[in-house]
Amino acid sequence: MESSIMQGASILATGSAVPDLCVSNQTLSQIVDTSDDWIVTRTGIKERRLVAKDQSLVDLAALASTRALNKASISPLEIDLIILATSSPSDLFGSASKLQATISANNAIAFDLTAACSGFVLGIVTATQFIQNGSYKNILVVGADVLSRWTDWSDRSTCILFGDGAGAAILQACPRHENGILGFQLNTDGNKSDQLSIAYQEHFAKTSLHEILNIKQGFFQQITMNGKEVYKFAVSKVPASISKCLQSLNISSEQVNWLLLHQANERILNAVADRLSIPSSKLISNLEKYGNTSAASIPLALDEAIKEDKIKFNDLIVISGFGAGLTWGTVIIKWKC
Ligand code: COA
Repeated sequence: MESSIMQGASILATGSAVPDLCVSNQTLSQIVDTSDDWIVTRTGIKERRLVAKDQSLVDLAALASTRALNKASISPLEIDLIILATSSPSDLFGSASKLQATISANNAIAFDLTAACSGFVLGIVTATQFIQNGSYKNILVVGADVLSRWTDWSDRSTCILFGDGAGAAILQACPRHENGILGFQLNTDGNKSDQLSIAYQEHFAKTSLHEILNIKQGFFQQITMNGKEVYKFAVSKVPASISKCLQSLNISSEQVNWLLLHQANERILNAVADRLSIPSSKLISNLEKYGNTSAASIPLALDEAIKEDKIKFNDLIVISGFGAGLTWGTVIIKWKC
């Protein structure tokens, strides 16, 4: 890839934010027929954070972004582009522009990217194109979701899984030989879109106005999921994507320092690592504290791993996102900080 790029791209800094409200499995067992033991055994999740009534997706995204900007010691005015990966915007037209205004990144253009739990990987890959082709210098990629607003809290098979959060990464242009975003591999299978969705429902109450205009209107439903099928999809397709991406870069699985997967389920994380013969000691996981935070899960786990000083200069990190769409994909990074 390096020969065709005009400039390199690397992650300069990360930041993250989670709501204060912490809901344990014990608390959930008072709402639906479940138990701490069932949830921990089947998923590895112990607790999750949920946004308060007066908090918004943009509040969380702005906090994560400001933390990343502070760490990078760059002004919001230096950001050229903001990509907000989210499936739970505060506004159906998108929340990225609200984020731009909140953090005063007045010179940045901003747009939302909707790809559920693969959103952050697609955001990084998209940002990388803009940097490597010479268009932009500094890009803020944010993964943020508040799926608690779309969860059916009476459905024990889904409500135990999700939590809210935000994570941000600042990508910056660098000389070609210092390029840190080495390669990617992306996929979509729209035939399976109904396996995990927040579907639009037509509303059948017709007014004379709707009759005259011959249109329908409706609303979005809550999360529905075929857990078994999504599980099977993840443990087969994600290792295949990673293997393909590693092969394309001539990197062996032994050379990988860290495996950072979308934090969906501990069993999925372990199964993917097993299939790739990557030891579980190389898995980055914070699932037990936050559950599945959708587009936020990867940058949140990355930020925590950096704060814990796990990731070192020149470490190879394999990052894979997967989820609704169905979408899945891998990006391989050489850590340059
Ligand atoms: N507490 C207690 N029992 C529960 C339960 C809960 N929260 N949720 C489901 N059950 C019950 C089911 O009703 C079923 O009971 P039955 O055997 O009497 O019918 C039993 O547990 C087994 O259900 P099943 O759906 O087969 O469980 P599972 O082993 O497949 O685990 C998931 C369910 C959701 C944890 C698992 O399928 C999964 O993780 N899938 C992937 C989901 C995911 O990661 N989605 C996001 C991707 S981005």
